[in-house]
Amino acid sequence: MGAIAATVGSAVGLGNIWRFPYEAGVHGGGAFLLVYVACVLLMGIPVIVAEFVIGRSTHKNVRGALRELAPRHKLHWFSYVCILASLMIISFYSVVCGWIVEYLQLSVRGLLHGHTPAEYEQMFADFVQNPWRCVLWTLLFLALNYVVLRRGLKRGIERVSNVLMPLLAVLLVVFCVNGLTLPGAERGVRFLFTPDFSQITPRVAIGAMGQAFFSLSLGLSCLLTYASYFKDSDSLVRNATIVGVLDTVVAILAGLMIFPAVFSYGMRPEAGPKLIFEVLPAIFEQMPGGPVWAVLLFALLFVASITSTISMSEISIAFFSEEWGMSRNRASILNTGIAMVLGTLCALSFGVLSEATVFGMTLFELFDYVSSNVLLPVGGIFFSLLVGWVLDRGLVRDQLTNHGTRTVRVMRPLVFCLRYVAPAAIVVIFLYGLLWR
Ligand code: TRP
Repeated sequence: MGAIAATVGSAVGLGNIWRFPYEAGVHGGGAFLLVYVACVLLMGIPVIVAEFVIGRSTHKNVRGALRELAPRHKLHWFSYVCILASLMIISFYSVVCGWIVEYLQLSVRGLLHGHTPAEYEQMFADFVQNPWRCVLWTLLFLALNYVVLRRGLKRGIERVSNVLMPLLAVLLVVFCVNGLTLPGAERGVRFLFTPDFSQITPRVAIGAMGQAFFSLSLGLSCLLTYASYFKDSDSLVRNATIVGVLDTVVAILAGLMIFPAVFSYGMRPEAGPKLIFEVLPAIFEQMPGGPVWAVLLFALLFVASITSTISMSEISIAFFSEEWGMSRNRASILNTGIAMVLGTLCALSFGVLSEATVFGMTLFELFDYVSSNVLLPVGGIFFSLLVGWVLDRGLVRDQLTNHGTRTVRVMRPLVFCLRYVAPAAIVVIFLYGLLWR
């Protein structure tokens, strides 16, 4: 139970509640959701199983696991891709965590109350352009993340989140019910659930695939590391299905919380990363007891995000300490130091550095795009091919059936998916994106 809860804690985070609605909004709603769900089923859950097999059979970090499982193939270079991507992700992710901290303190101080939707839009714009406040909250968040890592508070946080994550789910349901009573709510529901097939463009497919990997914490050996703590009696296929389904349910609930309000208040679904920060305050405004809901939601989002940043940090900390022989504390300092430097640059991307672009993207957008849409799916190809083709068949079967003590009915389709479907689908989406941009 503990290991599974931690894995769900890693997967459920701002990816579901902040990134999913904004990506779905930018990419046309229903068309995006359709491709997203297909990606979770055909690539997501199989690749989760692949990471689980590698992690639990070796009980090691990514580099150690690759050395042990494929000694002749020198595949452990891939661990550098994982470290690089995890540092990029934590850098822009902690900026958004900083926004959550800002909104949490605003709501605690009662300042998220009594304004019009237009004023809330302005409020967010003023905030992200303020270099000091954004950077301050980002650094503060990373410092807190460091304290948790360093003090070994991880267990404690996980125990707390075992109670708070179900509470977050309940809260989301309350918000959804509230959203559905808004005038014009059905337009939001239609936006999310009615796919317009002509809208499935290469951009939408790449965005949905990247979102699926991001939201499932997949492709960077994060789940591999967590699975190295699983018990031999845990069912890998069942655990992977639970993680995949719960994570998707939370994302859809977040969509149902946001889109009815977006349409009801005449806001724009394609607002991008700022979407939930403009919509949520407007929602609280209209709810009875709004200021209390606001504090509750931002507090729970804060907990959800710290369980995710801990899991991201764990990738490089395990590597620095096990491979470079650093103490855990030094490894945590190195991880936090890099994240603080890059995080500061990402935090400034909305203000003073908004003109500093590469390929037309600010650093925040570049890190987000390259890690989620490129590196994570590449990791997906890597892990599915490794388990599908390179690993010993008997080892994979032993892991899936717990040494023959469980019958796994989906074994054949699963292995088929890992060998052909998942890698081919990722390649097809990449090519589609490159050739028809
Ligand atoms: N899945 C998390 C979320 O939805 C983010 C996350 C945590 C992540 N660990 C990761 C993303 C590892 C990619 C890789 O918020």
